[in-house]
Amino acid sequence: MKSADAKTRIELLRKELEKHNHNYYVLSQPIISDFEYDLLMQDLDALEKKFPEWADPNSPTKRVGSDTLTEFRQVAHQYPMLSLGNTYNQEELQDFDQRVRKSLGDEPFEYVCELKYDGAAINLYYENGKLIHALTRGDGVLGDDVTSNIKTIRSIPLTLLGTDWPERFEIRGEVYMPVDAFRKMNEEREARGEQAFANPRNSAAGSLKILNSSEVAKRPLECFLYYLAGATLPFPTHYENIQKAAGWGFNIPPYIELKSSIEDVYEFIHYWDKERENLPFAIDGIVLKVNSLRQQEELGFTAKSPRWAISYKFKAEQARTRLLSIDFQVGRTGTVTPVANLEPVLLAGTTVKRASLHNADQIALLDIRLLDYVLVEKGGEIIPKIVGVDKEARSEETESFAFIDTCPECGTPLEREEGFAAHFCPNEDGCPPQIKGKIIHFIGRKAMNLESLGEESIHQLYEAGLIRNIADLYSLKKEDLLQLERFGEKSADNILNGIEQSKQIPWAKCLFALGIRHVGETVAKKLSKKFTSIDALRAATLEELLQVDEIGEKIAGSLLDYFSQPQHIELIARLQAAGLQLESFETDTSLSDTLTGKSFVISGTFTRHSRDELKNLIEAHGGKNLSSVTAKTHYLLAGDGIGPAKLQKAESLKIPIISEEDFEAMLPENII
Ligand code: IVH
Repeated sequence: MKSADAKTRIELLRKELEKHNHNYYVLSQPIISDFEYDLLMQDLDALEKKFPEWADPNSPTKRVGSDTLTEFRQVAHQYPMLSLGNTYNQEELQDFDQRVRKSLGDEPFEYVCELKYDGAAINLYYENGKLIHALTRGDGVLGDDVTSNIKTIRSIPLTLLGTDWPERFEIRGEVYMPVDAFRKMNEEREARGEQAFANPRNSAAGSLKILNSSEVAKRPLECFLYYLAGATLPFPTHYENIQKAAGWGFNIPPYIELKSSIEDVYEFIHYWDKERENLPFAIDGIVLKVNSLRQQEELGFTAKSPRWAISYKFKAEQARTRLLSIDFQVGRTGTVTPVANLEPVLLAGTTVKRASLHNADQIALLDIRLLDYVLVEKGGEIIPKIVGVDKEARSEETESFAFIDTCPECGTPLEREEGFAAHFCPNEDGCPPQIKGKIIHFIGRKAMNLESLGEESIHQLYEAGLIRNIADLYSLKKEDLLQLERFGEKSADNILNGIEQSKQIPWAKCLFALGIRHVGETVAKKLSKKFTSIDALRAATLEELLQVDEIGEKIAGSLLDYFSQPQHIELIARLQAAGLQLESFETDTSLSDTLTGKSFVISGTFTRHSRDELKNLIEAHGGKNLSSVTAKTHYLLAGDGIGPAKLQKAESLKIPIISEEDFEAMLPENII
């Protein structure tokens, strides 16, 4: 066969296979036998091997995954992946409905009701009908590129059907594991002596993060799509667009209904609250969305979630079982958590053997005794919790028990902080879980991002006596790593490279990575701006610390305490010697304080600047951006096609409506 003929046949086979794939995995209506399908696939595979010039990463043959370990690249979402606000009862839902009604100025609107699938969110990006990449939610702004794993999910089209899709768009959905497949997989894992997954959601999320995509291909993952984003969507409503996407080959869930009032929404909720136990997958509530895209735009977003959508969460399921014994676990920050060992019981699709008891106060409050019958509930958390005791079933053999007073890990007497319910072990630098916890925090994605290392390796390195603190990571040698189980040349090199690269991580993240009590990500950012090096921060007095925006007594006290300890000073000196960026050379990005104290709402499109540029300008000159017009808004910056509701609101509140030119005139000259 000539190369050109091969190309024609390869393209034909790909198209055919993609169609059969859709028939089988999305529509569940195959029109050829598995055998015939396999033959077509073998045919294509052989041709692609013989004519590598026609290779295509989106070919149906690429769904089996590969054994090469891929590190996940972080990629920015085109539109941030926000979360949804939650409601738990009709009243809260009613409030949401009223807010929507009010913002839309009593204009008629419709709701789309959907189920809230309990899996891992995924964002698929298509260009010219081809899957370009698939990102996890990540922190909402940056996601992990898990494209090679996603390709193994057969119901996700790599090439779209038809031709009437937008040139570029994103489609979001949930990767999940059907409950039966999840149970079966867990049984198999246990039989092989591997650890079982806690629930279908964790196993879906965990599967997406496997580095070896041929392993992912073995996991029974599925995907529902529920949200389209793009500059040019075909229809003016969410419902029509999402139905249209089914025609492009996407697996759009059929559990979707249009409702014209909040009362009708309740019907949908009540129906699914009962019926959910018969669904083959887990849901944890329903999602309500305003149907019209124009109205969605008018309603806008808060910093965290859309104002045009909300979720309603079902009440957690409960089970009753016997409390056999209590263990005490020491966490990364030294907090001691009592954990109950239970007689195994089935709860929301999984067998529960352990549950959290929170703290000593909670145990006293519930008056729990060993061998009591207790009520276990599964909320959003991974570990179920004990929420009550069946006192009527209490027998003679039950006995009360005392909370421990020394650390089960290192023997140090436990303490309780004023105003906190938890006991904690104060031996920060000498208690094994705390030492490991500090190092695990240090390597985390939001800190030094040493993903090549991983939690498991930290345990191994610690047990082998190779690390006792974060600075020890920078003294690790290849020979050290090679003597450990599971470590080959390649993984050792990977780890050492990662450690080397971490020396480029900027100062704010290094500060967060140190794990100073009460210094979270945001606080670290604030501090790093004010104090441009660790030496400057260390030299700061209480008064100087308190001057930093949002730093109060608690954080300042914790910083002073941290820097007063000689072992920390030594640690810092070692990190500095290793070459970490414990200082910054960045300069302030602010241009002026002309707009200090002024808040703006931007709406519509502009000719001289993009919306983001305008937002940046506002911030650079000391102003604030708001997303909706309220009494606190100083100016409405109006462009073409501004939403009528926003205009009306601004007019009724007598807020000045300004143009792009008016805005420019407000700024000092020459620094726009
Ligand atoms: S819409 C901008 N629809 O719930 C709104 N989300 O807490 C985009 N989820 O991260 C989300 N089912 O992973 C939407 N039918 C559904 C959903 C759904 C589950 C998840 C999603 C999101 C989370 C929000």
